Amino acid sequence: MKAKKLFPVALAASLVVSCAPQGRTIDQQDVLRKLSLEDKAHFVIGTGMAGMSGDNAVIGATKALVPGAAGTTYPLDSLGIPAIVLADGPAGLRIDAHRKDDKASYFCTHFPIGTLLASTWNQQLVEEVGKAMGAEVKEYGVDVLLAPAVNIHRNPLNGRNFEYYSEDPVVAGKTAAAYIRGIQSNGVGTSIKHFAFNNQETNRMNTDARVSQRAIREIYLKPFEIAVKDAQPWTVMSSYNKINGVYTSESKDLLTTILRDEWGYEGTVMTDWFGGKDGAAQIWAGNDMLQPGKAEQFTSIVDGVKSGRLKEADLDRNVARILSLIEKTPRYQGYKYSNKPDLKAHAAVTRQSATEGMVLLKNEANTLPIATKASDTKVALYGCTSYDFIAGGTGSGNVNHAYVVSLLYGLKAAGYQVNADLQQQYTRYVAQRQAEAKAKLEAAVKKSKKAAMLAMFLPTPRPVEMNFEAAQLDRQARLSDVAVITLGRISGEFVDRKVADFNLSKEEKQLISQVCEAYHKVGKKVIVLLNVGGVIETASWKDMPDAILCAWQAGQEGGNSVADVIGGKASPSGKLTMTWPVNFTDAYSSRNFPIDKTPDLNLTNQGKAGNGEKDVDYTNYEEDIYVGYRYFDSFGKEVSYPFGYGLSYTKFDYADAKVDVKDDVISVTVSVKNVGKTEGKEVVELYVAAPDSRQCDKPAQELKAFAKTKSLKPGEAETLTLAVKTADLASFDADASAWKVAAGQYQLRVGASSRDIKATLSVEVKAWEAKVHDVLRPVEQFDVLKRM
Ligand code: BGC
Repeated sequence: MKAKKLFPVALAASLVVSCAPQGRTIDQQDVLRKLSLEDKAHFVIGTGMAGMSGDNAVIGATKALVPGAAGTTYPLDSLGIPAIVLADGPAGLRIDAHRKDDKASYFCTHFPIGTLLASTWNQQLVEEVGKAMGAEVKEYGVDVLLAPAVNIHRNPLNGRNFEYYSEDPVVAGKTAAAYIRGIQSNGVGTSIKHFAFNNQETNRMNTDARVSQRAIREIYLKPFEIAVKDAQPWTVMSSYNKINGVYTSESKDLLTTILRDEWGYEGTVMTDWFGGKDGAAQIWAGNDMLQPGKAEQFTSIVDGVKSGRLKEADLDRNVARILSLIEKTPRYQGYKYSNKPDLKAHAAVTRQSATEGMVLLKNEANTLPIATKASDTKVALYGCTSYDFIAGGTGSGNVNHAYVVSLLYGLKAAGYQVNADLQQQYTRYVAQRQAEAKAKLEAAVKKSKKAAMLAMFLPTPRPVEMNFEAAQLDRQARLSDVAVITLGRISGEFVDRKVADFNLSKEEKQLISQVCEAYHKVGKKVIVLLNVGGVIETASWKDMPDAILCAWQAGQEGGNSVADVIGGKASPSGKLTMTWPVNFTDAYSSRNFPIDKTPDLNLTNQGKAGNGEKDVDYTNYEEDIYVGYRYFDSFGKEVSYPFGYGLSYTKFDYADAKVDVKDDVISVTVSVKNVGKTEGKEVVELYVAAPDSRQCDKPAQELKAFAKTKSLKPGEAETLTLAVKTADLASFDADASAWKVAAGQYQLRVGASSRDIKATLSVEVKAWEAKVHDVLRPVEQFDVLKRM
């Protein structure tokens, strides 16, 4: 079972940030000597097992150290090894806001969702957000934040896409690395998750992701590889699902051969909560810690060692890795946390950072920013979500935050006159719908325990939108200067989104067309605001409004952030990190995705394991590497908004694009000038097209680097450098188990989006190759999409 070392390990090791602890240290050999086999088995499986069988687990419950944290490690009190605390992530720290017999509150800041952070394309900003978030982790006595979440947006309907970053591995990997650096700068840890292929929620604990070795390497592992090498997260969380027939938490190929031997990872691996089946196999594979622990895992480990199926040395190795983790933590180092993070300062961080990830999708005739003074502007607010803003998604990615600023309050605080009649009508309507939803839920909870769990975790359905009489709209249009319609979407852990959630309801469509008709008749403008966690359908209605701003789910200060953008205090500079297709079915992965299959009342989506149901028990990734724009751009498909797209309040000119090659680094420089009238930042994207890409079955182009300007004043220019290593141009050749760069002329395309290329350069590249291990082969063959 010993992996052959084909990879230049020395190189990987040289990238590793030294994690040598300062202060108190643990004598690992001494601890190991003092532990019995049973002690060791306890130690590697967390604290969740007392009196617990496999299926009566309560996700999110943990011992008393920090209420509401997801779990703790197993304390070895007699040896002075405390339990350390692990808590979710990723939009902020998730712990209980209130504690029994305690008048104090423990709210955490709800920062913008992962997708918004990635949409900033600003690694420095993401690092700053991470710093603030990590300070809350530390000051609330938590040691490891269970974040970032970097799974690829394989399909628009994945219920957890909002936690994830992008359909592109470079964007996802670089964003994750910045986030990890920010959090860990506080001396607390992160857990990059879910490693890997957790691309659907439906039957997530059992489903088998069947993926080619090429797509595994180029698409799904790449963000993890980038983040692990760039930022060394303290921990990695394996996922629930299988990869090519083996649970990821039981895959030595994944957790040891690739993660450690090839990438040089030195930290600890933990399971996702209750993930995997065979405890001994998990330990053998290099899944150091099984969280929060199940009785059968304990038995499997102890029996495994006794029967010789599992070597005690493997168990010892995992114990040692957990000890190394504990040694670094604030809790072991005796840090006196305050329980008083600077929530006010962090509210300012989330308010400001959120503005930068908002994506301006349409802005006819400079509708935005609103040119008139706020106090002179009468705004009519439509859409229930304007009054009931969504800070983020549900499930473990939720944050117990003190408040959410709605668009209503954001605009009012900025001084706008908001139509009072509409406000009254909507607030009454929304309150009624919320009360009904609550009553429905309470009735369901009385009926079953499962429903009670669902109530805790699943999103409450959004109210059906109100439609209006034409006369009422005409009156409002005359009385207002501008209309804003907010569309809301919420999703979360356990369930995938439905097609109906991607599409607009008939009431939403009617609202847009009615409002646009009434306001345009009297020369007033209509802005549509998207308070969403993922992609929705836009092609059928985007012609109607004058402006569309995708605000994402912008955290607890959302309404203020949007008001800052609408009023022009901040200029949106976000760009899409995923393609917005015309129809949901346009994404090739939609042929192999559990469309509308998640049974609503099946919390864990266990599926009927073994019944071989397509897209539930297994999913064939037939689209192969053609995920997102790699598909749309290579196959010439129409999209509603392309990858990398986003407008600004100002305009930019690109000039003097040049390429320079030194050793194995290709550097592209380009001067970006603000040629508009307002200050703004621009994201510049570098796509590479391989020589004769059709013949080598390469995508038409792939993003290899990106950069963002500082805030440029009108007339100001900045020269950006986008660097790519030759090795980054490689494709994975599964037959040879090697990364290969074909020699030839490569096109370097400097773009404002994947479909707006401003300059094209070319460079001669020499062949390059690096062999890696032949692992994670699909068991069953299935057809994959090819361009040839
Ligand atoms: C989620 C993880 C989370 C864990 C602990 C699981 O259900 O998939 O993302 O970190 O719970 O709450």
